[in-house]
Amino acid sequence: MAIIDGKLLAQNIKDSLKQELEVIKKKTNKSPKLTVILVGDFAPSKIYVKNKEKSATEIGIQSEVIRLPQEVSEQELLKKIETLNSDQSVNGILVQLPLPKQINKEKIINAINIGKDVDGFHPYNVGCLSSNTGGVVPCTPLGCLYLIQSVEKNLRGLNAVIIGRSNLNGKPMANLLLKEDCTVTIVHSKTKNIKEICQGADILVAAVGVPNLVKKDWVNKNMIIIDVGINKVNDKIVGDVAFDEVKEKVKAITPVPGGVGPMTIACLLKNTVESFKRHLNG
Ligand code: GUN
Repeated sequence: MAIIDGKLLAQNIKDSLKQELEVIKKKTNKSPKLTVILVGDFAPSKIYVKNKEKSATEIGIQSEVIRLPQEVSEQELLKKIETLNSDQSVNGILVQLPLPKQINKEKIINAINIGKDVDGFHPYNVGCLSSNTGGVVPCTPLGCLYLIQSVEKNLRGLNAVIIGRSNLNGKPMANLLLKEDCTVTIVHSKTKNIKEICQGADILVAAVGVPNLVKKDWVNKNMIIIDVGINKVNDKIVGDVAFDEVKEKVKAITPVPGGVGPMTIACLLKNTVESFKRHLNG
């Protein structure tokens, strides 16, 4: 059994991005800029945004956070995005989700310039991933893929089971693993025999938001488990996998915290640096 160290892997990615940015800075005197829009004061979002800001600054990305009140109108938010779209100094725009209910999330995501969509949530980038034609890959699934590949480089023919079908995680994860020639199954709340389907997986990605859903009789000894869940139970953060009882029964598993979370941020920085390089090259 191995515990996959997401913090270390994320640090390696950040170190290499930092070096790359130092070289570019010497040559061009330019550095990337990431602008994050945070609406309202949903506590988890505030923490995520703070972590994104801190990591960006650490590696030499200029970080700007625009804070808007909970009651901001859709129109005002769209106007803000328009301004950032045409601001040449901004390389990446991220609107932290969830958004308050008076705002149509799809409308907002659609408004972000596809070249600055560092989340990879714009339908254009979603389509690129689905048709395997490049584009920006969403940060969390990309981080999960790197975590899996830190254990097993060649994923060809492996059975991958993803729990959860969200646009943010489950669906892009499925497309990424298909690209790696996995046989992919998505299970969700209406699936029959979830436990039996999971038992046959070589790779299990849990991204459903149900604390400790995956139990020791759902797994096998050759399995790589990636736990995307972040759930608060009695003031403690736990994943979607019952870590303590499962960890001895599988090949490798990510902890929560310290697994997927740091990799999401590292991949956001990677997407921002790539966007910056595209802008530098016109
Ligand atoms: N809220 C939770 N995860 C994410 C993410 O990856 N991007 C954005 N924009 N909002 C989120």
